[in-house]
Amino acid sequence: MSFFNYSDGELHAENVSLSSVARDYGTPCYVYSRAAFEKQWRDLDTAFGDHPHTICYAVKANSNIAILNLLARLGSGFDIVSEGELRRVLKAGGDPGKVVFSGVAKSEKELAFAIQNKVRSINIESVAELERVQKVAASLNATASIAFRVNPNVDPETHPYISTGMDKAKFGVTMEAAYDAYQRANDLANIDVHGIACHIGSQITKTSPFTDALEIVLNMVKRLSEKGIHIKQLDLGGGLGIDYQGETPPSAEAYVQSMISGIKAHGIDLPIAIEPGRYIAGNSGVLLTQVEFLKHNASKNFAIVDAGMNDLLRPSLYQAFHTIKPVAEESQAATQVFDVVGPVCESADVLGYDRELSVQAGDLLAVCSAGAYGFVMANNYNTRPKPPEILIDGEQAHLIRDRETYDQLLAGERLLP
Ligand code: LLP
Repeated sequence: MSFFNYSDGELHAENVSLSSVARDYGTPCYVYSRAAFEKQWRDLDTAFGDHPHTICYAVKANSNIAILNLLARLGSGFDIVSEGELRRVLKAGGDPGKVVFSGVAKSEKELAFAIQNKVRSINIESVAELERVQKVAASLNATASIAFRVNPNVDPETHPYISTGMDKAKFGVTMEAAYDAYQRANDLANIDVHGIACHIGSQITKTSPFTDALEIVLNMVKRLSEKGIHIKQLDLGGGLGIDYQGETPPSAEAYVQSMISGIKAHGIDLPIAIEPGRYIAGNSGVLLTQVEFLKHNASKNFAIVDAGMNDLLRPSLYQAFHTIKPVAEESQAATQVFDVVGPVCESADVLGYDRELSVQAGDLLAVCSAGAYGFVMANNYNTRPKPPEILIDGEQAHLIRDRETYDQLLAGERLLP
């Protein structure tokens, strides 16, 4: 089910035509569907049935506070990786008691902020970090609730840049080190061992990497329990993939049920947390852009658009495929094969190679599946202001982030005296 459909000859987000969004807010801009975000979140929530669980939405995927607020209203928890993300969650009305804090190098200042705000779990990624958490918690005369993020060395079978659970990755504590690390944590005065966490990668389109990792995690839970260390929450990370280009990832139901049956098979009945980002946000947004010029050379046709790699980095960074659709369903223009390229001065500034399109200058295009890791990875390369974000709710369009101005972009820079 998509919330971006053609109706009356035009692509709409819910009941709002994308041409009206372009007219009112200009291009390039990100356009999200509230109903899409909510449906994706609810699909995961419903799949758990009555199994105790927390959906900790991965803030990094799309961190606009309006989006976080929508999810908080549904009862969502959050997976954060920085103090900045925790500040966003708090500003959006999220419950810090449902927050898990991941990341390989949390600073003392970030840890203090998280401990003071009583996040549910600081997911520790090394023994050195454990010592840092103990030190910060002791200085605050507080107790830090922690998990170790373990690295099960399982291949998630995804792009190497988004694989995190293999032993060549910087993430997590190896299984060999984890057992000793838990014993050390158990001995520390200001540490409360809460859980175990594992995140093996992103855009995973099969169930088996998840269940393979789960088996390894469950064996550790059992070993620890024999030592008197009792885990209270299994945090199984994010990573569930979406359909960008005909991929067929497991459904929310199949994904969640595979985990619940995995733990039941071990006679373990622990609450589960998951950290989905892309699954909730990815197909809930598009990047709307306008064709500036068509250009033809000996071997290529180019559709030069007003959005570039600074607005949507994924195609350039990961060779990621995003479907590109014309906003007008019908066109008088001849169909040709185009590279859809942006205005940035880099040859890698390509949003899509070899796309068959009927377009002319002035036409609008929607770069699909841009709700996750789209705006959040936007940058100011070539001194280009970041695009606005618009959230569609039924018939209503809400501007949830202004287009950046040149004054904002240059604020903070100074000439020498
Ligand atoms: N939890 C942790 C600890 C993570 O590192 C991540 C993503 C997630 C959860 C959420 O994963 P998801 O459910 O979204 O797959 N920029 C890349 C993706 C980087 C993912 C980083 N970590 C992209 O555009 O594909």
